[in-house]
Amino acid sequence: MTQNNCRVCLKKIDEFMSFGKMPIANSFIKKNEINSQFFYNMKVGFCQNCFTFQLIDVPNAKQMFNSKYAYLASTSLVMQNHWRKLANLIVKDYKLNTNSFVVEIGSNDGIFLKNISNLKIPHLGVDASSNVSDISKSRGVNSLNAFFNTQTALDIRSSYGKADIIVSTNTMHHIEDINSAAEGMSKLIKNDGTIITEDPSLKEMLVKNSYDQIYAEHMYIWSLSSISSLFNKYDMEVYDIKNNTFHGGCSRYFIAKKNKKKISNNVYFHKKNENRIGINKMSTYEKFKKRTIESKKRLKDFLTKLKESNKKIVGYGAPAKSTTILNYCDIDGSLIEKIFDNSETKIGKFTPGKSLIPIEHTKYFESYYSEYCILFAWNHEKEILNKEKKYKKKDGKWIIPIPKLKVI
Ligand code: TYD
Ligand code: ZN
Repeated sequence: MTQNNCRVCLKKIDEFMSFGKMPIANSFIKKNEINSQFFYNMKVGFCQNCFTFQLIDVPNAKQMFNSKYAYLASTSLVMQNHWRKLANLIVKDYKLNTNSFVVEIGSNDGIFLKNISNLKIPHLGVDASSNVSDISKSRGVNSLNAFFNTQTALDIRSSYGKADIIVSTNTMHHIEDINSAAEGMSKLIKNDGTIITEDPSLKEMLVKNSYDQIYAEHMYIWSLSSISSLFNKYDMEVYDIKNNTFHGGCSRYFIAKKNKKKISNNVYFHKKNENRIGINKMSTYEKFKKRTIESKKRLKDFLTKLKESNKKIVGYGAPAKSTTILNYCDIDGSLIEKIFDNSETKIGKFTPGKSLIPIEHTKYFESYYSEYCILFAWNHEKEILNKEKKYKKKDGKWIIPIPKLKVI
């Protein structure tokens, strides 16, 4: 849907950059689907009224979240560990027990809630994609296959009662009618309950110039300024914030009904940091655009030169982010022969859009000879380089495309 007004506050939005025609990032395709792909115009804008960074056109949600959703959160051991830690922290800090109720919005394959389920704490995972929801059910996680909105929240409330904790990680950027979702959360949470959201941070995206965070499923990139403005509408406020390095830099917001919790100093510091980098100024986005155009040129020129000198180049990791890099930088199978990835939902398929690079299981990486390997899953650099140590021993070189092109 094209929207010239901000999806959050409905005021006019300032569009500042177009990435051209894009497929849906997670729509890895089979050979016979190559000619029937869906494309949309990927343009981004910034709302100077409520400070939300967002896509101008958004494909229909059912086109993105359905029975074929390719992202499986549990493919990374580091991420499994990360969500286990969050579960332990919540159970301890909020003194959860077998009378508590935890809701997760965007529960994917149950990576987080299985920790809560193991402790016999009542919970419900809501996910719009049926395939991942089924996986989480098979892991003993109580799951509801639905889009989360005010109506879903009211239905959950009447079946289960209000929630002590609502967790939503890497999902707030997926929800087109975000007002309905935030309102739903405010109706579902107990008076003294806490909503915890975690998403890639706009501040980190600007600092790292990680434009590959932008794709259809990421229709918003949230900041403290924008998330505060959204929840303020429903009488809620951010009372704490913690940053981490996952997904290239995420912010975890702790949100409660107004005046229920003490506002942590972290909130003031973070606000100051956002202001320091000019996060709410249009000129910051003009500079981001300029750097992104330069980054595209640098990467495309680099790969083209390698290819001209007959180097063999493969890729590692086919995250949603790679769909933006490949399609925006016009990189296809003539430059990158294949990409190795460990997601069952991607293996044997092709990267979407014009790129059409075949995806193979990572178990074949070690025995496959290539001189260069571009790490699209650059946010998992430590885990992957550690796992694939033998590649360097065979003189293989890693190309890290983001934040700054480097070869190691
Ligand atoms: P990720 O960066 O987690 O997500 P997004 O799609 O939101 O950008 O995706 C990482 C991809 O890399 C995913 O397709 C799985 C793959 N991967 C491997 O193949 N091996 C690994 O060891 C790791 C950590 C990831
Ligand atoms: Zn707005």
